[in-house]
Amino acid sequence: MTLIKWAAQYKVNIEEIDQQHVKLIDLVNKLYTALKNGGAKAILEGILTEMMDYAEYHFDAEETLFGLHLYPETMHHIQEHNIFKKIVISLKEKHENEDYSTSMETMFFLREWLTKHILEEDQKYVPFFEGKGVC
Ligand SMILES: [Fe+2]
Ligand SMILES: [Fe+2]
Repeated sequence: MTLIKWAAQYKVNIEEIDQQHVKLIDLVNKLYTALKNGGAKAILEGILTEMMDYAEYHFDAEETLFGLHLYPETMHHIQEHNIFKKIVISLKEKHENEDYSTSMETMFFLREWLTKHILEEDQKYVPFFEGKGVC
């Protein structure tokens, strides 16, 4: 089941990064499906852990590219990534102690944050990397 549909507007034209964004969106859709099917707490926690680990891997990939090419918005972009990590950790802790509504809150947070971040913050580096011949 699909909560977020991958679309051309999300593309940053860096193959590796686009594939990672597809995978992150996939994980949110997986969480959505698990919730719709009344998935067990353990399944939901597994997806959240996978999401956190993969988001960290993806952020590292972007931040490495920023470092390599001296992207001028690096500090601000890293701050955004760090805010996300903090929120997901606190939602995960909350989820361990609470119920279904926390899972819904988490799912909607992930949808809002990811789509907004890819469409706004990530899109900002596209012209910069195009200029560097990376895209
Ligand atoms: Fe990204
Ligand atoms: Fe990013």
